[in-house]
Amino acid sequence: MVGTINHIAIAVPCLRAASDEWRQKLDAEISAPQRLEEHGVTVVFIDTGNSKIELLEPIDDASPIAAFLAKNPQGGMHHICFDVDDIYASRDRLVAEGARILGSPEPKIGAHGKPVLFIHPKDITGTLIEIQQR
Ligand code: CO
Repeated sequence: MVGTINHIAIAVPCLRAASDEWRQKLDAEISAPQRLEEHGVTVVFIDTGNSKIELLEPIDDASPIAAFLAKNPQGGMHHICFDVDDIYASRDRLVAEGARILGSPEPKIGAHGKPVLFIHPKDITGTLIEIQQR
C-alpha cells in the first residue's frame, strides 16, 4: 500500500530560525512559507530531489504541533508521508487492520493540494504516518 515517501516532516518552534539553520548548515533551498489554517501549521518545503523535507511551525497553542513541541522543545521528526494510489482504499484497509485515523475519517486537503489522512502513531510503531493521494 505505501508508495514513495512524499515528505518527512519536522516540527520546529521557529520556522524562520529553522529555515536559516537548514539554509546555512545544509545549503537547503527553502520554499515560501505556506499557512495551513485547517491543519494549524505554517510550513516550508525543502526539495531533496527524490522527496521533500517539510518544516512545520504551529500557528497557535491549539495546533496539534504545539503539544508535540511541549514534549520536544527543540523540535524533532514529526511524521512521514507516503503517497498512495487510492486514499479511500488505504484508509479502509488501515481501519480494517485496527489502525485509528486521527480526526475525521474524511481526507482533508494537505499542503500539496491533495487529500491526506493521518494514522494514530500508537497504531504504527510509534510513528505518525500521513498518507497522501498520489
Ligand atoms: Co505532512
